[in-house]
Amino acid sequence: MVRGEPGVGKSALLAAAADLAGAAGLRVLRGSGSEFEADVSYSLLNQTLLPLYTEIQRLPPALRDALTVALGFGPGPAPAALLVCNAALALLTTVARKTPVVVIVDDLQWVDRPSAVVLGFIARRVAGSPVGVIAASRTGTEGLLDRRGLAEVTVEPLDTEAAAQLVDVRFPTLPARARQRLLDLAQGNPLALSELPAALDGEAGHRFEESDVDPLSNRLQTIFAARMADLPDPTRLLLLLATFEGSGDLRILRGMTDLVHLAPAERAQLVRVDDSTGRLRFRHPLIQSAIVATSAYEERRQAHLAIAAALPGDPERRTWHLVAATAGPDESVAAELEHASHRLSIRSPEQKGPPESR
Ligand SMILES: Nc1ncnc2c1ncn2[C@@H]1O[C@H](COP(=O)(O)OP(=O)(O)OP(=O)(O)O)[C@@H](O)[C@H]1O
Ligand SMILES: [Mg+2]
Repeated sequence: MVRGEPGVGKSALLAAAADLAGAAGLRVLRGSGSEFEADVSYSLLNQTLLPLYTEIQRLPPALRDALTVALGFGPGPAPAALLVCNAALALLTTVARKTPVVVIVDDLQWVDRPSAVVLGFIARRVAGSPVGVIAASRTGTEGLLDRRGLAEVTVEPLDTEAAAQLVDVRFPTLPARARQRLLDLAQGNPLALSELPAALDGEAGHRFEESDVDPLSNRLQTIFAARMADLPDPTRLLLLLATFEGSGDLRILRGMTDLVHLAPAERAQLVRVDDSTGRLRFRHPLIQSAIVATSAYEERRQAHLAIAAALPGDPERRTWHLVAATAGPDESVAAELEHASHRLSIRSPEQKGPPESR
């Protein structure tokens, strides 16, 4: 368990761990929780185990069927949680007999509950086997994973010397007084050290200094929010859609909006597009928090409705967004919710095969 405050460097460490593991010939499986994505059962497990789809088919039938249904790859009655736990563990240990496996999960605080249970189960049982689990979580935002019995590392802010080094590399021309002010305000937080210089002259910079009680992460979110104000409205709305939709898949976004509006956000370095996967990635989760915080209620409602309309083949997510867009009791949404829960417990036969990879 890797723990630490927002922006302290947990994701950076996980990325380095994944690179090292990959270079050492380990099989790396990655997944991540997401603050605003639909809370869909087993979505983290689906993300993480999707690369093992073929291996799942080779498990003993009872375990194979349990995982197939839990991950949404096929129909069947909802499997018992313990069966899913055992199936996932069997899958990883089987795969690891050929190549050691490391499961790396970021933003554990936002992982869906059933996946958190499975991940905790696995993490507690793999000691001594060629399976490793590394998961990162923000302090202050407790997730659903039971941490008892798991080894923990807390990532501390950079010490004064390291912080000064980072500033001197990133901003070599910063005047001495501004440099000292930056070091004082950022308290060794690498995200603050990188983001503050752009904001210190503006209004957000003043707000940053005024309040001592506000946690650093709130103040960083304010900085990102200030940068949002310079974006054209259609760009802001596109980012809101991407935040709620969660996968970043440009094919899905293209169905809801015109992707030319993406350019200002790319130029402002709030997002980047991974050309190899066709996905949009936010540079930091606090950017997404800022997008939602600076949006209006009606904008959020319309965004959820647009996403629901774009997901006809995914009843669970579709319903989740419809519910999020509903202001009061609504008979038609209630009926959809009931229908979706029914489909979840008895998945319909036409849902065979792997879903769109997420
Ligand atoms: N030791 C370091 N030296 C230089 N830059 C760093 C260091 N650690 C992190 N960074 C940079 O600081 C920024 C924030 O780091 P990162 O996104 O890993 O934080 P985090 O702990 O994952 O935050 P959150 O909880 O909000 O997800 C990134 O741009 C990262 O590249
Ligand atoms: Mg992170």
